[in-house]
Amino acid sequence: MGDTLRGLVLAGGTGSRLRPLTYTRSKQLLPVANRPILFYAIEALVAAGITEVGVVVGDTAREIEAALGSGSQLGCRITYIPQAAPLGLAHAVAVSAPFLDGHPFLMYLGDNLLKGGVSDFARRFREADWDAGILLTAVPHPEHFGVAVVDDRTGGVVRLVEKPAVPPSNLALVGVYLFRPVIFDVVHGLQPSARGELEITDALQQLLDRGRTVHAERVQGWWKDTGKPEDLLEANRLVLEDLSPQRAASAQVDDESQVSGRVVLSDGVVVRRSTLRGPVVLGPGTVVQDSFIGPFTSLGSGVRVSHTEIENSIVLADAVLDDVPGRIDGSLLGQGTRVTRRRTAPHAITLVTGDHCLVEVL
Ligand code: DAU
Repeated sequence: MGDTLRGLVLAGGTGSRLRPLTYTRSKQLLPVANRPILFYAIEALVAAGITEVGVVVGDTAREIEAALGSGSQLGCRITYIPQAAPLGLAHAVAVSAPFLDGHPFLMYLGDNLLKGGVSDFARRFREADWDAGILLTAVPHPEHFGVAVVDDRTGGVVRLVEKPAVPPSNLALVGVYLFRPVIFDVVHGLQPSARGELEITDALQQLLDRGRTVHAERVQGWWKDTGKPEDLLEANRLVLEDLSPQRAASAQVDDESQVSGRVVLSDGVVVRRSTLRGPVVLGPGTVVQDSFIGPFTSLGSGVRVSHTEIENSIVLADAVLDDVPGRIDGSLLGQGTRVTRRRTAPHAITLVTGDHCLVEVL
Protein backbone atom coordinates (compact mmCIF):
# COMPACT_ATOMS: atom_id res chain seq x y z
CA MET A 1 0.00 0.00 0.00
CA GLY A 2 1.11 3.56 -0.55
CA ASP A 3 0.20 6.94 -1.94
CA THR A 4 2.86 7.25 -4.61
CA LEU A 5 1.37 7.47 -8.08
CA ARG A 6 2.34 4.52 -10.28
CA GLY A 7 2.17 4.36 -14.07
CA LEU A 8 0.37 1.73 -16.14
CA VAL A 9 1.05 1.73 -19.88
CA LEU A 10 -1.05 -0.52 -22.11
CA ALA A 11 0.97 -2.07 -24.90
CA GLY A 12 -0.98 -5.26 -25.63
CA GLY A 13 -3.82 -5.49 -28.16
CA THR A 14 -3.71 -6.49 -31.82
CA GLY A 15 -3.32 -3.35 -33.96
CA SER A 16 -5.51 -4.81 -36.71
CA ARG A 17 -6.22 -1.41 -38.31
CA LEU A 18 -2.50 -0.90 -38.95
CA ARG A 19 -1.96 -4.11 -40.90
CA PRO A 20 0.25 -5.14 -42.63
CA LEU A 21 2.75 -3.17 -40.48
CA THR A 22 1.42 -4.78 -37.31
CA TYR A 23 1.85 -8.34 -38.64
CA THR A 24 5.54 -7.93 -38.00
CA ARG A 25 5.70 -5.37 -35.21
CA SER A 26 3.74 -4.08 -32.27
CA LYS A 27 1.68 -0.99 -33.15
CA GLN A 28 3.05 0.84 -30.11
CA LEU A 29 6.55 0.52 -31.60
CA LEU A 30 5.70 2.12 -34.95
CA PRO A 31 7.80 5.26 -35.27
CA VAL A 32 6.66 8.87 -35.14
CA ALA A 33 9.51 11.22 -36.07
CA ASN A 34 11.71 8.08 -35.97
CA ARG A 35 10.93 7.21 -32.34
CA PRO A 36 8.53 4.47 -31.19
CA ILE A 37 5.17 5.92 -30.09
CA LEU A 38 5.52 4.08 -26.79
CA PHE A 39 8.61 6.12 -25.85
CA TYR A 40 6.54 9.31 -25.81
CA ALA A 41 4.09 7.70 -23.34
CA ILE A 42 6.83 6.59 -20.94
CA GLU A 43 8.52 10.00 -21.17
CA ALA A 44 5.22 11.72 -20.32
CA LEU A 45 4.91 9.58 -17.18
CA VAL A 46 8.50 10.25 -16.13
CA ALA A 47 7.98 13.99 -16.68
CA ALA A 48 4.97 13.73 -14.33
CA GLY A 49 7.27 12.36 -11.60
CA ILE A 50 6.24 8.71 -12.01
CA THR A 51 9.14 6.29 -11.71
CA GLU A 52 7.43 2.89 -11.16
CA VAL A 53 5.82 1.92 -14.46
CA GLY A 54 3.95 -1.27 -15.31
CA VAL A 55 3.74 -2.10 -19.03
CA VAL A 56 0.94 -4.48 -20.02
CA VAL A 57 2.10 -6.72 -22.86
CA GLY A 58 0.47 -9.34 -25.09
CA ASP A 59 1.73 -11.32 -28.09
CA THR A 60 4.44 -8.76 -28.88
CA ALA A 61 5.92 -8.86 -25.36
CA ARG A 62 9.44 -9.78 -26.47
CA GLU A 63 9.70 -6.93 -28.93
CA ILE A 64 8.40 -4.40 -26.41
CA GLU A 65 10.79 -5.62 -23.73
CA ALA A 66 13.70 -5.41 -26.18
CA ALA A 67 12.80 -1.78 -26.97
CA LEU A 68 12.17 -0.52 -23.40
CA GLY A 69 14.49 -2.74 -21.36
CA SER A 70 14.56 -2.04 -17.64
CA GLY A 71 13.35 1.54 -18.25
CA SER A 72 16.53 3.02 -16.78
CA GLN A 73 17.39 4.77 -20.07
CA LEU A 74 14.02 6.52 -19.93
CA GLY A 75 14.34 7.39 -16.23
CA CYS A 76 12.01 4.83 -14.66
CA ARG A 77 11.76 1.20 -13.51
CA ILE A 78 9.58 -0.98 -15.71
CA THR A 79 7.68 -4.09 -14.62
CA TYR A 80 6.24 -6.13 -17.50
CA ILE A 81 2.72 -7.45 -16.92
CA PRO A 82 1.63 -10.24 -19.30
CA GLN A 83 -1.99 -10.19 -20.46
CA ALA A 84 -2.93 -13.58 -21.94
CA ALA A 85 -5.40 -12.06 -24.45
CA PRO A 86 -6.57 -8.50 -25.25
CA LEU A 87 -9.82 -8.81 -23.32
CA GLY A 88 -10.24 -5.07 -22.73
CA LEU A 89 -8.75 -2.08 -20.94
CA ALA A 90 -10.46 -2.99 -17.66
CA HIS A 91 -9.09 -6.53 -17.97
CA ALA A 92 -5.60 -5.03 -18.36
CA VAL A 93 -6.21 -3.11 -15.11
CA ALA A 94 -7.41 -6.30 -13.36
CA VAL A 95 -4.29 -8.29 -14.30
CA SER A 96 -2.14 -5.39 -13.07
CA ALA A 97 -3.51 -5.50 -9.52
CA PRO A 98 -0.40 -7.15 -7.97
CA PHE A 99 1.88 -4.52 -9.54
CA LEU A 100 -0.38 -1.61 -8.54
CA ASP A 101 -0.46 -2.98 -4.98
CA GLY A 102 -2.98 -0.48 -3.61
CA HIS A 103 -1.32 2.60 -5.14
CA PRO A 104 -3.22 5.28 -7.09
CA PHE A 105 -2.19 5.09 -10.73
CA LEU A 106 -2.11 6.86 -14.06
CA MET A 107 -3.10 4.64 -17.00
CA TYR A 108 -1.79 5.66 -20.40
CA LEU A 109 -2.79 3.85 -23.63
CA GLY A 110 0.45 3.02 -25.42
CA ASP A 111 -0.81 4.11 -28.86
CA ASN A 112 -1.83 7.61 -27.73
CA LEU A 113 0.19 10.81 -28.07
CA LEU A 114 -0.45 14.02 -26.14
CA LYS A 115 1.46 17.16 -26.83
CA GLY A 116 0.79 18.75 -23.45
CA GLY A 117 1.90 15.69 -21.46
CA VAL A 118 0.16 14.60 -18.25
CA SER A 119 2.15 16.43 -15.56
CA ASP A 120 -0.45 19.08 -14.66
CA PHE A 121 -3.26 16.53 -14.67
CA ALA A 122 -1.27 14.20 -12.36
CA ARG A 123 -0.34 17.09 -10.05
CA ARG A 124 -3.99 18.16 -9.63
CA PHE A 125 -4.99 14.52 -8.94
CA ARG A 126 -2.34 14.23 -6.22
CA GLU A 127 -3.73 17.37 -4.54
CA ALA A 128 -7.42 16.53 -5.00
CA ASP A 129 -9.84 13.93 -3.70
CA TRP A 130 -11.47 12.67 -6.89
CA ASP A 131 -11.82 8.90 -7.21
CA ALA A 132 -10.92 8.99 -10.89
CA GLY A 133 -9.82 11.55 -13.48
CA ILE A 134 -10.35 11.51 -17.23
CA LEU A 135 -9.25 13.72 -20.10
CA LEU A 136 -11.72 14.74 -22.80
CA THR A 137 -11.55 16.41 -26.17
CA ALA A 138 -14.14 17.33 -28.81
CA VAL A 139 -13.88 15.11 -31.91
CA PRO A 140 -15.73 15.01 -35.25
CA HIS A 141 -16.53 11.25 -34.97
CA PRO A 142 -17.26 10.46 -31.32
CA GLU A 143 -18.79 7.08 -32.26
CA HIS A 144 -15.23 5.69 -32.55
CA PHE A 145 -14.36 6.51 -28.91
CA GLY A 146 -15.58 6.41 -25.36
CA VAL A 147 -17.95 9.40 -25.03
CA ALA A 148 -18.70 11.56 -21.97
CA VAL A 149 -21.72 13.66 -21.11
CA VAL A 150 -20.71 16.59 -18.92
CA ASP A 151 -23.10 18.80 -16.89
CA ASP A 152 -22.67 22.29 -18.41
CA ARG A 153 -23.51 23.92 -15.09
CA THR A 154 -21.21 22.02 -12.70
CA GLY A 155 -18.66 20.65 -15.19
CA GLY A 156 -19.14 17.20 -13.59
CA VAL A 157 -19.31 13.95 -15.59
CA VAL A 158 -22.88 12.68 -15.82
CA ARG A 159 -22.59 9.63 -18.08
CA LEU A 160 -19.98 7.63 -20.00
CA VAL A 161 -20.55 5.25 -22.88
CA GLU A 162 -18.12 3.28 -25.07
CA LYS A 163 -18.33 3.75 -28.87
CA PRO A 164 -22.06 4.57 -28.95
CA ALA A 165 -23.86 4.24 -32.32
CA VAL A 166 -25.63 7.53 -31.54
CA PRO A 167 -23.18 9.63 -29.50
CA PRO A 168 -24.78 11.68 -26.72
CA SER A 169 -22.02 14.34 -27.06
CA ASN A 170 -18.90 15.05 -29.13
CA LEU A 171 -16.54 14.68 -26.14
CA ALA A 172 -14.20 11.69 -26.56
CA LEU A 173 -12.27 10.02 -23.76
CA VAL A 174 -8.58 10.44 -24.38
CA GLY A 175 -6.36 7.47 -23.50
CA VAL A 176 -5.17 8.84 -20.14
CA TYR A 177 -6.91 7.97 -16.87
CA LEU A 178 -6.19 8.51 -13.18
CA PHE A 179 -7.51 6.04 -10.63
CA ARG A 180 -7.54 5.41 -6.92
CA PRO A 181 -7.71 1.77 -5.79
CA VAL A 182 -11.53 1.97 -5.49
CA ILE A 183 -11.57 1.20 -9.24
CA PHE A 184 -10.92 -2.46 -8.35
CA ASP A 185 -14.31 -2.61 -6.56
CA VAL A 186 -15.99 -2.23 -9.94
CA VAL A 187 -13.43 -3.77 -12.32
CA HIS A 188 -13.78 -7.24 -10.82
CA GLY A 189 -17.57 -7.34 -11.34
CA LEU A 190 -17.68 -6.09 -14.97
CA GLN A 191 -19.43 -7.99 -17.77
CA PRO A 192 -18.03 -8.04 -21.35
CA SER A 193 -19.43 -5.35 -23.68
CA ALA A 194 -21.07 -5.95 -27.08
CA ARG A 195 -17.56 -6.14 -28.61
CA GLY A 196 -16.59 -8.77 -26.03
CA GLU A 197 -14.23 -6.59 -23.98
CA LEU A 198 -14.16 -5.47 -20.36
CA GLU A 199 -14.48 -1.73 -20.91
CA ILE A 200 -12.81 0.82 -18.65
CA THR A 201 -15.58 3.21 -19.72
CA ASP A 202 -18.14 0.87 -18.12
CA ALA A 203 -16.01 0.71 -14.95
CA LEU A 204 -16.01 4.52 -14.79
CA GLN A 205 -19.79 4.58 -15.29
CA GLN A 206 -20.16 2.18 -12.37
CA LEU A 207 -18.09 4.49 -10.18
CA LEU A 208 -20.56 7.26 -11.08
CA ASP A 209 -23.50 4.96 -10.32
CA ARG A 210 -22.02 4.41 -6.84
CA GLY A 211 -21.81 8.13 -6.22
CA ARG A 212 -18.02 8.32 -6.69
CA THR A 213 -16.44 11.39 -8.28
CA VAL A 214 -15.05 11.17 -11.79
CA HIS A 215 -13.34 14.45 -12.58
CA ALA A 216 -12.97 15.49 -16.24
CA GLU A 217 -10.54 17.94 -17.81
CA ARG A 218 -10.11 19.06 -21.41
CA VAL A 219 -6.88 18.20 -23.21
CA GLN A 220 -4.45 21.07 -23.60
CA GLY A 221 -2.69 21.01 -26.97
CA TRP A 222 -3.26 18.22 -29.45
CA TRP A 223 -4.04 14.55 -28.82
CA LYS A 224 -3.76 11.67 -31.27
CA ASP A 225 -4.85 8.03 -31.08
CA THR A 226 -2.58 6.34 -33.63
CA GLY A 227 -4.88 3.42 -34.41
CA LYS A 228 -5.03 3.95 -38.21
CA PRO A 229 -2.43 4.79 -40.90
CA GLU A 230 -3.77 8.32 -41.43
CA ASP A 231 -3.58 8.93 -37.67
CA LEU A 232 0.05 7.85 -37.62
CA LEU A 233 0.87 10.24 -40.46
CA GLU A 234 -0.92 13.06 -38.66
CA ALA A 235 0.93 12.27 -35.43
CA ASN A 236 4.17 12.40 -37.43
CA ARG A 237 3.22 15.85 -38.78
CA LEU A 238 2.28 17.12 -35.31
CA VAL A 239 5.54 15.94 -33.71
CA LEU A 240 7.64 17.23 -36.63
CA GLU A 241 6.00 20.67 -36.21
CA ASP A 242 8.10 21.05 -33.05
CA LEU A 243 11.28 19.53 -34.44
CA SER A 244 14.60 21.05 -33.39
CA PRO A 245 17.17 20.96 -36.19
CA GLN A 246 20.24 18.79 -35.57
CA ARG A 247 23.19 17.77 -37.64
CA ALA A 248 25.51 14.94 -36.60
CA ALA A 249 29.19 15.65 -37.18
CA SER A 250 29.40 12.61 -39.44
CA ALA A 251 26.49 13.72 -41.69
CA GLN A 252 27.58 14.74 -45.20
CA VAL A 253 25.69 17.16 -47.45
CA ASP A 254 27.33 18.11 -50.77
CA ASP A 255 27.42 21.61 -52.30
CA GLU A 256 24.84 20.69 -54.91
CA SER A 257 22.21 20.01 -52.25
CA GLN A 258 19.83 22.46 -50.59
CA VAL A 259 18.62 22.07 -47.04
CA SER A 260 15.90 24.43 -45.80
CA GLY A 261 13.62 24.45 -42.77
CA ARG A 262 14.13 22.27 -39.69
CA VAL A 263 15.97 19.09 -40.58
CA VAL A 264 17.54 16.36 -38.44
CA LEU A 265 20.55 14.69 -40.06
CA SER A 266 21.60 11.68 -37.97
CA ASP A 267 24.95 9.88 -37.86
CA GLY A 268 26.29 8.74 -41.20
CA VAL A 269 23.63 10.46 -43.35
CA VAL A 270 24.75 11.19 -46.92
CA VAL A 271 22.89 13.74 -49.10
CA ARG A 272 23.96 14.35 -52.72
CA ARG A 273 22.40 16.61 -55.42
CA SER A 274 19.14 16.72 -53.45
CA THR A 275 16.68 19.13 -51.84
CA LEU A 276 15.54 18.62 -48.26
CA ARG A 277 12.67 20.86 -47.19
CA GLY A 278 11.89 20.49 -43.48
CA PRO A 279 10.53 19.49 -41.18
CA VAL A 280 12.30 16.26 -42.06
CA VAL A 281 14.12 13.58 -40.03
CA LEU A 282 16.74 11.36 -41.64
CA GLY A 283 17.74 8.35 -39.51
CA PRO A 284 21.29 7.02 -39.12
CA GLY A 285 22.97 5.90 -42.32
CA THR A 286 20.24 7.20 -44.66
CA VAL A 287 21.47 7.99 -48.19
CA VAL A 288 19.57 10.49 -50.39
CA GLN A 289 20.71 11.14 -53.97
CA ASP A 290 19.16 13.23 -56.80
CA SER A 291 15.92 13.42 -54.81
CA PHE A 292 13.44 15.73 -53.09
CA ILE A 293 12.50 15.06 -49.47
CA GLY A 294 9.55 17.31 -48.67
CA PRO A 295 7.95 18.53 -45.44
CA PHE A 296 6.73 16.11 -42.76
CA THR A 297 8.80 13.13 -43.83
CA SER A 298 10.57 10.70 -41.48
CA LEU A 299 13.06 8.30 -43.03
CA GLY A 300 14.24 5.49 -40.73
CA SER A 301 17.79 4.19 -40.43
CA GLY A 302 19.55 2.86 -43.52
CA VAL A 303 16.88 4.09 -45.96
CA ARG A 304 18.15 4.76 -49.51
CA VAL A 305 16.36 7.22 -51.78
CA SER A 306 17.48 8.04 -55.32
CA HIS A 307 15.79 9.91 -58.21
CA THR A 308 12.61 10.10 -56.16
CA GLU A 309 10.35 12.77 -54.63
CA ILE A 310 8.62 12.11 -51.32
CA GLU A 311 6.77 14.18 -48.73
CA ASN A 312 4.38 13.77 -45.79
CA SER A 313 5.37 10.13 -45.28
CA ILE A 314 6.91 7.66 -42.84
CA VAL A 315 9.49 5.21 -44.20
CA LEU A 316 10.78 2.47 -41.92
CA ALA A 317 14.37 1.25 -41.75
CA ASP A 318 16.26 -0.13 -44.76
CA ALA A 319 13.58 0.71 -47.35
CA VAL A 320 14.79 1.53 -50.89
CA LEU A 321 13.08 4.09 -53.15
CA ASP A 322 14.65 4.28 -56.58
CA ASP A 323 13.48 6.27 -59.61
CA VAL A 324 9.85 6.31 -58.51
CA PRO A 325 7.66 8.30 -60.97
CA GLY A 326 5.47 11.12 -59.62
CA ARG A 327 5.73 12.13 -55.97
CA ILE A 328 5.18 9.80 -53.02
CA ASP A 329 2.78 11.48 -50.58
CA GLY A 330 0.87 10.36 -47.47
CA SER A 331 2.59 6.97 -47.43
CA LEU A 332 3.65 4.54 -44.74
CA LEU A 333 6.30 2.10 -45.95
CA GLY A 334 7.37 -0.91 -43.89
CA GLN A 335 10.90 -2.03 -43.10
CA GLY A 336 12.95 -3.14 -46.11
CA THR A 337 10.23 -2.17 -48.63
CA ARG A 338 11.51 -1.60 -52.20
CA VAL A 339 9.76 0.76 -54.60
CA THR A 340 11.53 1.07 -57.96
CA ARG A 341 10.83 1.80 -61.63
CA ARG A 342 10.82 -1.17 -63.99
CA ARG A 343 13.40 -0.53 -66.68
CA THR A 344 12.72 -3.50 -68.93
CA ALA A 345 9.66 -4.60 -70.93
CA PRO A 346 6.89 -5.43 -70.34
CA HIS A 347 6.00 -1.96 -68.97
CA ALA A 348 3.75 -3.34 -66.32
CA ILE A 349 3.34 -2.75 -62.58
CA THR A 350 4.88 -5.53 -60.48
CA LEU A 351 3.67 -5.91 -56.91
CA VAL A 352 4.74 -8.26 -54.16
CA THR A 353 2.67 -7.19 -51.18
CA GLY A 354 1.80 -8.71 -47.84
CA ASP A 355 -1.79 -9.15 -46.69
CA HIS A 356 -3.90 -6.00 -46.17
CA CYS A 357 -1.53 -3.67 -48.08
CA LEU A 358 -2.77 -0.57 -49.88
CA VAL A 359 -1.31 0.35 -53.29
CA GLU A 360 -2.65 3.37 -55.21
CA VAL A 361 -1.09 3.77 -58.67
CA LEU A 362 -1.13 6.85 -60.92
O1 DAU B 1 -7.76 6.25 -27.71
C1 DAU B 1 -8.81 6.56 -26.85
C2 DAU B 1 -9.83 5.42 -26.80
O2 DAU B 1 -9.12 4.24 -26.37
C3 DAU B 1 -10.99 5.75 -25.84
O3 DAU B 1 -11.77 6.82 -26.34
C4 DAU B 1 -11.87 4.52 -25.64
O4 DAU B 1 -12.86 4.80 -24.68
C5 DAU B 1 -11.04 3.33 -25.18
O5 DAU B 1 -11.83 2.16 -25.08
C6 DAU B 1 -9.90 3.07 -26.17
O6 DAU B 1 -10.48 2.64 -27.40
P1 DAU B 1 -9.67 1.85 -28.54
O7 DAU B 1 -10.63 0.99 -29.29
O8 DAU B 1 -8.90 2.85 -29.35
O9 DAU B 1 -8.66 0.94 -27.73
P2 DAU B 1 -7.61 -0.09 -28.30
O10 DAU B 1 -8.26 -1.43 -28.45
O11 DAU B 1 -6.95 0.51 -29.51
O12 DAU B 1 -6.56 -0.20 -27.13
C7 DAU B 1 -5.85 0.93 -26.63
C8 DAU B 1 -4.45 0.51 -26.19
O13 DAU B 1 -4.49 -0.48 -25.17
C9 DAU B 1 -3.59 -0.08 -27.30
O14 DAU B 1 -2.26 0.39 -27.14
C10 DAU B 1 -3.65 -1.58 -27.07
C11 DAU B 1 -3.82 -1.68 -25.56
N1 DAU B 1 -4.64 -2.81 -25.11
C12 DAU B 1 -5.91 -2.94 -25.59
C13 DAU B 1 -6.73 -3.95 -25.15
C14 DAU B 1 -8.16 -4.08 -25.65
C15 DAU B 1 -4.14 -3.71 -24.18
O15 DAU B 1 -2.95 -3.58 -23.75
N2 DAU B 1 -4.92 -4.73 -23.75
C16 DAU B 1 -6.22 -4.90 -24.19
O16 DAU B 1 -6.92 -5.84 -23.74
